[in-house]
Amino acid sequence: MNTAIILAGGKGSRMKMDLPKCAVEILGKPMIEYLVDTLDKVNLNQVICVVGYKKEKMMEILKDRVTYAIQQEQLGTANAVQCALEFLDDDGYCVILPGDTPLIDEDILNQLIDTHLKNHNQLTLATIFLDIPTGYGRIVRKDDGTILKIVEESEATYIEKAIKEVNTGIYCIENACLKEALQKIPFHLKKKEYYLTDIAEIIPFVGSFTIEDNYKIRGINDLSTLCAIENECRKKIIEKNLKNGVHLIQPDTIQIGMDVTIGEGTTIYPGCVIMGKTRIGKSSVIGPYSELVHVDIADGVTIRQSVVQNSQIGKHSQIGPYAHIRMNTLIGEECRIGNYVEIKNSVIGNHTKVAHLTYIGDTDCGSDVNWGCGCVTVNYDGKTKFRTIIGDHVFIGCNSNLIAPIHIESNSFIAAGSTITEDMNEGDFAIARARTIIKKDYASKYNCQKK
Ligand code: UD1
Ligand code: CA
Repeated sequence: MNTAIILAGGKGSRMKMDLPKCAVEILGKPMIEYLVDTLDKVNLNQVICVVGYKKEKMMEILKDRVTYAIQQEQLGTANAVQCALEFLDDDGYCVILPGDTPLIDEDILNQLIDTHLKNHNQLTLATIFLDIPTGYGRIVRKDDGTILKIVEESEATYIEKAIKEVNTGIYCIENACLKEALQKIPFHLKKKEYYLTDIAEIIPFVGSFTIEDNYKIRGINDLSTLCAIENECRKKIIEKNLKNGVHLIQPDTIQIGMDVTIGEGTTIYPGCVIMGKTRIGKSSVIGPYSELVHVDIADGVTIRQSVVQNSQIGKHSQIGPYAHIRMNTLIGEECRIGNYVEIKNSVIGNHTKVAHLTYIGDTDCGSDVNWGCGCVTVNYDGKTKFRTIIGDHVFIGCNSNLIAPIHIESNSFIAAGSTITEDMNEGDFAIARARTIIKKDYASKYNCQKK
């Protein structure tokens, strides 16, 4: 069986963060997810992820996308691989990857596997030449060019440190060889770890594959490398979008995630953060200062200074300024969602207007509905959430409360200031507020007394 083993059990002490290192985000997406997404595109039988430090966090991110191997104590990369052995049979090979190298792509992995199989290697190391090799294990070769060993920087001699060919931490190895070699790996007293790199010296027939693009194999050990990599990714994404006809204004201030697609003729204003699996159609206008995460936005939409998460916006709708749309909300076409409006877990039909200061939660609202200013769907009784159902062409006057569960049928009319507790039938009118009482001249008399 051919397997990928991702090593993601480490704490990442050099990051000085509370999160396990491989859970730290690059452009809004955890490092580990980059690798698992890439491995989805490589033809392997299983993906094992070694987790240890704060493993619950890693599992929350990856859910059931991988098989988990648990490393109880962080005793080094060789020990991490050891923890995954119970899932390997004796046939086939495995690709081992460090979980802190998120930009490895499927081409590199396929080429590594091809080289490994073609040359009948027992172990194939993916190496790279770096002008500044600091921080990486160095590849020490014999006079005939074959690999002697990998030496970690902390243990390298002055001469070895000058070697520019380094270990990327990505290996392809026969399962049977891996099992045998791991038993022979010594414990390094200085760091109190078992180094996976020692297999290069233990296994007799070691080949290598040289990667050209050093941007893709950079391991992230500290925040300064994270920041540099994030900046490089950001630049590439900006270039791609500008080339595709997306008008980015002051692009240095805009963050766009790796899995975002934006249509031609769309303009993005400064300060926007667009993350997750987001699609924006053509000729839309976003921003300034909008946050969009996992959203699907159709063509010709305008979103100003708003937050939209896990939702869909239909074509030619206008959102904001200062709207918050979240949790599986579906806004139809040509809607207008105005300032200080929050919409959660709801469906809003075409041409509906929610112009100001309104909360809509757990609601199915039809088309051509007019929501006055300051309306509330009262969806929660402290224990359970209830749905509000509203038909088409309904007029909801300002400052109305709709106490769910409730059904307001089409063409009905709610007078301003009403708290509605009963269902309304097609075409009904409801008014539910205290009557106004005018006391003639009372104010004038009162004001005289005051003087
Ligand atoms: C490792 C290599 C080094 C290589 C570099 C490439 C070793 C000893 N060194 O060094 O030769 O140049 O990667 O980026 O392998 N991990 C565990 N459990 C542990 C320790 C680590 O799961 O007990 C995981 C970490 O979460 C991390 C990966 O293994 O994702 C690599 O560990 P890290 O400490 O970053 O190794 P480097 O020092 O970068
Ligand atoms: Ca590393």
